[in-house]
Amino acid sequence: MTHTLIYPAHAVHNAAGHLQIDGCDVIDLVAEHGTPLMIYEEKTLRDQCRKFMQAFRDRTDDFEVVYASKAFCTLAVCRLVEQEGLSIDVSSGGEYHTALRAGFPTERMFYHGNNKTRWELEYALANGVGYVVVDSFSELDTLERMVADRGGVQKILLRITPGIEAHTHSYIQTGQLDSKFGFGLTEGHAAEAIRRGLEAPHLELAGLHAHIGSQIFELEGFRKAISILVDLVKEAHEAFGFECRYLNIGGGLGIRYTEEDTPVTIEEYVEGKVSGVRQEMARVGLPVPRVLVEPGRSIVAKAGVTAYTVGTIKEIPGIRTYVSVDGGMSDNLRPMLYDARYEAMIANRADAPADTVVTVAGKHCESGDVLVKNARIARPELGDILVMPATGAYCFGMASNYNGNPRPAVVMVKDGAVRTIVERETYDDLIAKQRPFQG
Ligand code: LLP
Repeated sequence: MTHTLIYPAHAVHNAAGHLQIDGCDVIDLVAEHGTPLMIYEEKTLRDQCRKFMQAFRDRTDDFEVVYASKAFCTLAVCRLVEQEGLSIDVSSGGEYHTALRAGFPTERMFYHGNNKTRWELEYALANGVGYVVVDSFSELDTLERMVADRGGVQKILLRITPGIEAHTHSYIQTGQLDSKFGFGLTEGHAAEAIRRGLEAPHLELAGLHAHIGSQIFELEGFRKAISILVDLVKEAHEAFGFECRYLNIGGGLGIRYTEEDTPVTIEEYVEGKVSGVRQEMARVGLPVPRVLVEPGRSIVAKAGVTAYTVGTIKEIPGIRTYVSVDGGMSDNLRPMLYDARYEAMIANRADAPADTVVTVAGKHCESGDVLVKNARIARPELGDILVMPATGAYCFGMASNYNGNPRPAVVMVKDGAVRTIVERETYDDLIAKQRPFQG
């Protein structure tokens, strides 16, 4: 197997020369479930969770690993991360609902969003939610009133925007001053939010949160964010006696999409966060809070691959060869949206040398619907099964029905056994919510 770094841990080439994932031949899987098919390896999913948990346990007792469910929010994955002892971040009523229906304990849920609707908040308060991560002054006021009406006290964190530009695509930077998220540090907004949070009788301000961006390869930005948050903690401690018990430093750990990518390891990421918080709290002479991180991509991306069928091959001499597959921007928007790079392979000839450079295109009516530019694969033939690795994060979640394409099926494999975790949509699903129109 030549691609182990970007494939699920138990991906091999089997005797038939096929890609096999934890005992399941990908060609058999697509024969049964069709394409496009998303295949997740359960062991890799659990392993990523365990690496985070172990890296923390080796360093501290007071931590929480909060899975950012936006990366892949399904009943199966919510259940699995719960079993592994993680908490969960939900960023909408729909993600909250999915986690709730998966049986996720509400006290381990963190509810995010810069514009949670009143209805969404009602739904979460009625069924219980561990922490609401409050994003704005108006939300502080609304939440206080809503909890007062219901009775009781709701635990909250405040989302702080530390004013840091993480080194990543501008669409997935979130910590910079010019951001729709959170309380900025200018004009004393963040300190004012802490003051109001402490004063609100029906809110219990447990701590602070910051998320600076996603697919980040350097620890430096996280260190800066911690330092800025801790300065704020000190200021608020001196001004209003604020005791920060929880410091949630967000997600953002980058992953390997291609062989050339060089992200830091989970171990290094956790070490950076735990030691960073310790050192910074020592600097200001205050007790070390619980350290929380919110990984999404780094839990699920590597566990998932997408299998497509090659439908047409168009050679434009001297320019390029387009290999078109039966999916594309409706099941993986990331190349179009972020210029994200991926690799590909022909799964039915996994042993054949990858000696042909092609452009993998989708089937949608847009020229920009390209999945991989200059992919190096075995010489493609019609009917081949083309697999793209590292599609486990932010692909299914951002999928659409563009051009009337039903969303793909998703299966989970383990020890040669396969379970469907999401059924393929049907054409009738596409129109299920539509009503006939008599003109
Ligand atoms: N916490 C918060 C508050 C977030 O907004 C996010 C991601 C995370 C945690 C998880 O970050 P991660 O560990 O996955 O980097 N659709 C984009 C990614 C958007 C990320 C948004 N927030 C993509 O496909 O790259």
